[in-house]
Amino acid sequence: MASGDTGEAARHNRGAWDSFRRQRDEGLVGGRRDVVARLVGGRSYLHSQYRALAGDVTGKRLLDLGCGDGAELLSWARLGAFVVGVDNSPRQLAVAQQGVEALGLTADRCRLVLGDLLRLPDDLLRAEFEVVFSAGVTSWIGDLERWFTAVHRALKPGGVFILAAAHSLSLFYGARERGASDWETYFDEGPFMEQLGEDGVRHRWNPAGDGLTTVQWMHTLGHMVTAVAQTGLRISHLVEISDQEELYSVAGGPGELILRATKDGD
Ligand SMILES: C[S@@+](CC[C@H](N)C(=O)[O-])C[C@H]1O[C@@H](n2cnc3c(N)ncnc32)[C@H](O)[C@@H]1O
Repeated sequence: MASGDTGEAARHNRGAWDSFRRQRDEGLVGGRRDVVARLVGGRSYLHSQYRALAGDVTGKRLLDLGCGDGAELLSWARLGAFVVGVDNSPRQLAVAQQGVEALGLTADRCRLVLGDLLRLPDDLLRAEFEVVFSAGVTSWIGDLERWFTAVHRALKPGGVFILAAAHSLSLFYGARERGASDWETYFDEGPFMEQLGEDGVRHRWNPAGDGLTTVQWMHTLGHMVTAVAQTGLRISHLVEISDQEELYSVAGGPGELILRATKDGD
């Protein structure tokens, strides 16, 4: 698949995420199954660094790109932000919608949008958001330049972009440790197309063995940082932290990165 064919990748990945979510809802996969109940019980899904880097979000408009099941999105809403969440997977958004209802959030406090991050609707790109947030999504997006240009357009002057992602080095060396054969150098960013469920290929999120295709990119740290900076956003922080769930970390290495950038104010 050509790396520029983002629409085809998004279609494949939507099918995969719908299946991952269904298997989670059916109890086949552990972790983040009971997001709604935990949110209602008062749990926040925000890493302390997200909050510290975003600052006080009370009364601010916040756009969560790739909001998934809404765990972070609704945690931001509970802090007083007016939130809009975008995701490509109807099943993920269905969970987020349950959270919206369980928390009693009105339409002006939380809006969910089904769509591809590389094809955001114009009404989200009118420089109206004080905060744009995204976690766990970069490997699903091939065209970082196009995506971050949209982030720049969505932000109000003076607004803040918080990008959280698995650390490029931990992804690469973690894959090495697991013996992955198709990722030869750190500088090979993909696309990596994988057929799950075929020939017994199992994925920890696909224990049912559904026949799925995923398309991912492993962007280097330099590419991510440069792509943000090239939009004109001013990078103030690049925080490297250990991965609390130890999904990716290589012992002693970084697990996640959190980047903070701002749009020049008026
Ligand atoms: C690892 S989950 C992260 C969800 C949430 N942000 C979190 O941190 O838990 C990745 C999410 O990205 C979404 N996604 C993948 N490709 C996308 C695309 N092209 N447009 C919109 N969402 C996408 C998936 O549907 C999935 O919900």
